[in-house]
Amino acid sequence: MEIVILPDAQAVGRAAAARIAAVVRAKPDAVLGLSTGSSPLGAYAALRERVDSGALDLSRASGFALDEYVGLPAGSEQSYAATIAAEVTGPLRMDPARVRVPDGGAHDLEAACADYERAIRDAGGVDVQLLGIGANGHIGFNEPTSSIASRTRIKTLSERTREDNARFFDGDLEAVPLHCITQGLGTILEARRLVLVAQGEAKAAAVAAAVEGPLTAMVPGSVLQLHPAATVLVDEAAAADLRLADYYRWTVANQPSWQRVD
Ligand code: F6R
Repeated sequence: MEIVILPDAQAVGRAAAARIAAVVRAKPDAVLGLSTGSSPLGAYAALRERVDSGALDLSRASGFALDEYVGLPAGSEQSYAATIAAEVTGPLRMDPARVRVPDGGAHDLEAACADYERAIRDAGGVDVQLLGIGANGHIGFNEPTSSIASRTRIKTLSERTREDNARFFDGDLEAVPLHCITQGLGTILEARRLVLVAQGEAKAAAVAAAVEGPLTAMVPGSVLQLHPAATVLVDEAAAADLRLADYYRWTVANQPSWQRVD
């Protein structure tokens, strides 16, 4: 696993964007795995700068969001579909027809999950998956004890996650849905490359458990340890609990030039 400790959240966003841009440079019709929440916003802002300056063209790329709430009113601004439209499709000039979000309003949710898995497979799989991590170690909405082999399915959100996400619902915990559709850990692990971003001290324990703790369903983010091409980009605050921080800094300082991404 590549672990990079960066001075601040902005640098994390720029580094994530550089990795995604490198994938798209090599494959202009790349399939991007898209995360929502606050963690990826810096990456999307940095990608936007590249798109606006003409250095990056995402018009042929396609995308799949990681997750979506179940049961929000159609068109709700808290839905991840709305977030993806506002933060990704529009500003990054991606073709909305090529960007999918799980259908949390589907009449048959199980069929919607199976359909989503099929769509990812039919697109040729995800080339680079951007991830955040929850304070309880979740990735996507795979809460602790999610099966490491899980596929896209319906999950019940934990109280911790609902409390953390109430800030997107004007602080109203009751308004946060109880259920969601999320890509499974098995689905996420099939992406060719994973890029996890984390900022702030609230994420420090989860980052350390995922990177340096045992591989366990209790810390879903620890499945990154199974992936052959996983990068973790953290700011100083999110790196605070890493025991081998000095080694990660040493590794980056001595990185061979052919390994650098910018
Ligand atoms: C969102 C997602 C979640 C978030 C996580 C962190 O698509 O997959 O795993 O990445 O809940 O949320 P933030 O970034 O808001 O702290």
